[in-house]
Amino acid sequence: MERNLQAVDEIIDQWGAKPESLLQIMLDVNHHFNYLPRESIERISKRLRMPISQVYSVATFFKVFSLKPRGRTIVHVCTGTACHVRGAPKILDRVKQDLGLNPGETTEDMALTLETVNCVGACASAPVVVVGGETYSEMTPNKMAEIIKAIKAQKAA
Ligand code: FES
Repeated sequence: MERNLQAVDEIIDQWGAKPESLLQIMLDVNHHFNYLPRESIERISKRLRMPISQVYSVATFFKVFSLKPRGRTIVHVCTGTACHVRGAPKILDRVKQDLGLNPGETTEDMALTLETVNCVGACASAPVVVVGGETYSEMTPNKMAEIIKAIKAQKAA
């Protein structure tokens, strides 16, 4: 974990060890590890001289943060209102079936995590799925199956 904490220290140094940098530091640490390891929260709390409970409350308030290890690629299925009425439930069912995961779960090899989100700000293109940071618009269950097939082929390569 020492190397991990070095990365956390570098992020804190970049933004400054001050309470007003908390959110940006947490976003960068979350991005670096794909989640917020417990040790990183302790380090942030110590270096910013903030109660650890305050750091945890931010970590649990925003859905972008995860306290559990997540896969290298995250599949976000938007289930917000616009996406819901245009077929998000069918897309989510297809992903669950093809990956064998429920939202919040990760494959055993830590390759993929399935999550749902309430809106990604692309309602006009609903239904929307974000895979590894790339947004896919006007999704259908068949298009979703193709994307999952491509992800699985990448893994096998
Ligand atoms: S509800 Fe899905 S992008 Fe807004």
